[in-house]
Amino acid sequence: MRTEPGGGIESGGRTEPGGEAPASSADPLAGRRVLVLISGSIAAVKLPLVVSALAARGAEVRCALTPSAARLVSAVALASLSRHPCALDDDQWSHRAARPLHIELAEWADLVLLAPLSATTLGRWVHGLAEGLVASTLLACEAPVLVAPAMNTAMWEAPPVRRNWQALQAFERVVPVAPGHGLLACDRRGEGRMAEPERLLLALESLALHGWRRDWAGRRLLVSTGPTREFLDPARCLTNPSTGRMGVLLAQAALQRGAVVDLVHGPLQVEPVLLDGLLCHPVVTAAEMERQLSGLQPVADAIVMAAAVADHRRVEARHEKLPKQDLQPALSGGWEPVPDLLAGLVARRPAGQRILGFAAHSGDVLPQARAKFARKGCDLLFANPIDLPGAGFGSAFNQGWLLGPGERIEAIAPAPKLAVAHRLLDALAGLPLRPPAAAPPHRAAADGTRPAAADP
Ligand SMILES: Cc1cc2nc3c(=O)[nH]c(=O)nc-3n(C[C@H](O)[C@H](O)[C@H](O)COP(=O)(O)O)c2cc1C
Repeated sequence: MRTEPGGGIESGGRTEPGGEAPASSADPLAGRRVLVLISGSIAAVKLPLVVSALAARGAEVRCALTPSAARLVSAVALASLSRHPCALDDDQWSHRAARPLHIELAEWADLVLLAPLSATTLGRWVHGLAEGLVASTLLACEAPVLVAPAMNTAMWEAPPVRRNWQALQAFERVVPVAPGHGLLACDRRGEGRMAEPERLLLALESLALHGWRRDWAGRRLLVSTGPTREFLDPARCLTNPSTGRMGVLLAQAALQRGAVVDLVHGPLQVEPVLLDGLLCHPVVTAAEMERQLSGLQPVADAIVMAAAVADHRRVEARHEKLPKQDLQPALSGGWEPVPDLLAGLVARRPAGQRILGFAAHSGDVLPQARAKFARKGCDLLFANPIDLPGAGFGSAFNQGWLLGPGERIEAIAPAPKLAVAHRLLDALAGLPLRPPAAAPPHRAAADGTRPAAADP
């Protein structure tokens, strides 16, 4: 009998198409009370999109604006989109309120999104100034706060702002989402552009799933993902339907947990914004992937090999397109297996480096996974079915078996890929990793600075 992770080894239950979604596949943001605090940056105009998406995903949303923010974005729009009155400074002084509004809001929230964060509000918070509704709510709040600054590059690089931003990293419950590089409203290109709305939503989802703890801080993670392509000729290739989403979400989850993440990826089919904050190393063929992985392996504390590597390649590269009538013989001969990239990483690994492999299987996954785990020598193997609805290539969900040391096998029930990513990171972090101090020096991304890329 085929064993499936949805129901455990004994029961073998499975999720049928159109059947009721298992509890673990529910949106992690549904039912969460999200307080959105907005300060006076022009990026405030993007927040209605975030609020609307949160409400559509079933979160309960309330918004509060600083007076400057209220001049840049409509409180009426935010009230309509959140289905709640939008709180302004004047509301703090209403004689109708039985309790101070900043305490009400602070105690109501499960999660707080502070976006955009202006230089002024940052300064107030770091220096403990409870001036205005947003600043006093921040000081009164005990919920985790996702913080996304936005400002002109010179402001962002100004020493007092850098000092305040550094100081904020030490606050408990604060999860920073550093601004990216891009076109700013001042017509300049540079650092200071607020993280895009999709990234803020993903970061909130991570916060809802995992909490605010940065258990990967000071560590460097190497992740491979996506398909590779092996060319028959310049017009045709051997590849697979992997989108790369599972590995990209795993990389984003690790980034939020404090890691510096190198992502070696084949041609991806994910929203480009999901690559923000990662050190990306794009490749096409297995040989290119192997080169990048072996160059980056020495600085990695752990490796996740989630890429779907195409199995065979041409013995000799062909630089001209084959005529159709010559295709048949070219398809049946002249191919060789590509090297086993996971086996290569395991063979070359330095002491204390941990490796999680992925295995995509159809049919009865578990026996195949057991044999592969015994053969590969990695620390963990996540085996996932690719022939079940709601799992594998192209799906927003995944499920499978996690095989670990001492014949440990854990069934991972169907869940959003981000939830599976956090579960896999928990398992990897649970293994004895080399102490952070022993790792080669690198700057953590926690302060929002991009570490120097270690391209081989
Ligand atoms: C059009 C406009 C855009 C602004 N954009 C930013 C910005 O992106 N980041 C920032 O820190 N301040 C920005 N400011 C300045 C702040 O609004 C100002 O410093 C204000 O004191 C912030 O107060 P608050 O933090 O209470 O909202 C902008 C001001 C204006 C008029």
